[in-house]
Amino acid sequence: MAFIEQEEINRIRSSASIVDVISSYVPLTQKGKNYFGVCPFHEDHSPSMSVSEEKQIYKCFSCGATGNVFTFVENFLNISFAEAVELIASKVGISVAVNFSKKKEIKFKEENEAMDLALKFYQNNLNTESGKKAIEYLKKRDLHENTIKDFSIGLAMDQNMLYKILSKKGYSDKLLESIGLVHQIGNEEHDLFQNRIMFPIHNLDGQVVGFTARCYLKEETPKYINTKETILFKKGNILFNYHRAFDSIRLLKEVIVVEGNMDAIRLYSVGIKNVVALMGTSITKEQMAIFKKLRSKVILMLDNDSAGENATLTVGNLLEENQIPFQIVRLSGEKDPDSYIIKNGKEAMEEVIKNAISFVDFKLNYFKKNKNLNDASDLAEYIKAVIDGLKNTNDIILKEVTLQKLSNDYNISYTVLKEQLGMTELEEKKRNEKRVEKKEERQSSYDKICRKILFYMMNDKEYVRLYQTKLGVFPTKEHRIIANEIVYYLEKNKTINLADFITYAENMNLKDEIMAIISNEKDLVLTEEEMLELLAIIRKKIKKEEINKLKALIKEEYDVNKKMALLEKITELKKENGD
Ligand code: CTP
Ligand code: MN
Repeated sequence: MAFIEQEEINRIRSSASIVDVISSYVPLTQKGKNYFGVCPFHEDHSPSMSVSEEKQIYKCFSCGATGNVFTFVENFLNISFAEAVELIASKVGISVAVNFSKKKEIKFKEENEAMDLALKFYQNNLNTESGKKAIEYLKKRDLHENTIKDFSIGLAMDQNMLYKILSKKGYSDKLLESIGLVHQIGNEEHDLFQNRIMFPIHNLDGQVVGFTARCYLKEETPKYINTKETILFKKGNILFNYHRAFDSIRLLKEVIVVEGNMDAIRLYSVGIKNVVALMGTSITKEQMAIFKKLRSKVILMLDNDSAGENATLTVGNLLEENQIPFQIVRLSGEKDPDSYIIKNGKEAMEEVIKNAISFVDFKLNYFKKNKNLNDASDLAEYIKAVIDGLKNTNDIILKEVTLQKLSNDYNISYTVLKEQLGMTELEEKKRNEKRVEKKEERQSSYDKICRKILFYMMNDKEYVRLYQTKLGVFPTKEHRIIANEIVYYLEKNKTINLADFITYAENMNLKDEIMAIISNEKDLVLTEEEMLELLAIIRKKIKKEEINKLKALIKEEYDVNKKMALLEKITELKKENGD
């Protein structure tokens, strides 16, 4: 982000009152200096979010969400950073430079243009002589003209036609390789996709960033060839059909999640528009974060095979862990949502979605797999698995109902089941406590001090100066990078405060680490003496580490003169450290 923009953005931010803005979405009550409200970023009923008018930031004590006025509206309204700036600007009556929101996208301008041209080229190929076979295939799969158009489906032919055309237009081999359209074989560039039906894949903003390409002339392995990871295409950050489904998801507060692109295309084209595809059965942390941000109920509808069933358990566990509300649909009869709709129609699909089941109900069924429930030990294993599956549910009614059901169905004493659940929950609680302890252990006291120093540096330029003169470097790489960014920010802007630094940090790779530092630090007043003490502790630690390194070197060194030089260096460092 250019400096001018940063300054303008800071001006907009400091003209707004974070309390006014947040309280227009979430009721806040004042307690002392701060305001409190129910955090909208996780399932909660008590006021765990505090908002500071003084610092112009919010913090949730429960889920750790933190940020400034921009990040709040971004996450609350699901809008982009640029839209957030525009919104806040309009609230405070500042007009922002035109086209501001477009500026972020020009990073890969040429690459995006080449991608768009490739898309057009593939689409046009359907109108050629060889396109006839492809159209025939698409018709056979019940993909009609409108759907082909809506999803910009196309065709890749052979003889490196795409490469020839894009080269002629002036795109370099390097660029075309970098976006995964061509690859080198020997000394020659070849089209990566040949003789395949082309389905474009868009990023969350709706730009074409890659393709998934299906064989159609005969069945081949692999059935689909996908764009590999490129500067534009990060598969883990993408959900197929997200940009088309977004409005409908927001409206319905529900998102249907399927495996295959064809499934998403089918649901969408019959008018069930709130659907996205994972493009397989695995799910990434980033995709999970997208669902979390949507704050909508997930309907998980994976394929009707054992891969889909196992993935339902894995993905379900992850959704539960991330506190994302969800239900499950298991289809019967057909292998996937696509064929289910072709066979049974839209209404039947709507009906099964309406009858989606809970994760617990899914597990009641799932754990029966490969078990003979007439066998005592199988039955015991089954019951334990189901009860184990209840330990992360907050829903006490659901727990009660499930225990009753197990008790009735298998004629087992309710008290015994209840006792088993109690034990499981206790174990889980202990395990969680251990996890927290371990995390704290890992975060050694030194680590905590470094984070504290960084936190106060983000708040006050005097502390940045102290850091520069008294320490200048941190022991770990992450903290070094963050400190460098803070110093750089201060040099550019001449001043620093937490709320503005948050805006700047939004584009950094270490954003999560920075937010964690902010959210963990209780922001109390820190005197200069206290800061100097903290800096001294870290300085000593760094010197000590240097000494240890030198000592190790001495052991390996046979040259007496060099040995002496190292010893001298150690003595010097020890003196500096005051011991
Ligand atoms: N997939 C892939 N590569 C493969 C097979 C599958 O990338 N060789 C991904 C695709 O994104 C596909 C999804 O996994 O959409 C689900 O696979 P599958 O169910 O086999 O695909 P369908 O969508 O059912 O494909 P089709 O109906 O065209 O056979
Ligand atoms: Mn499928």
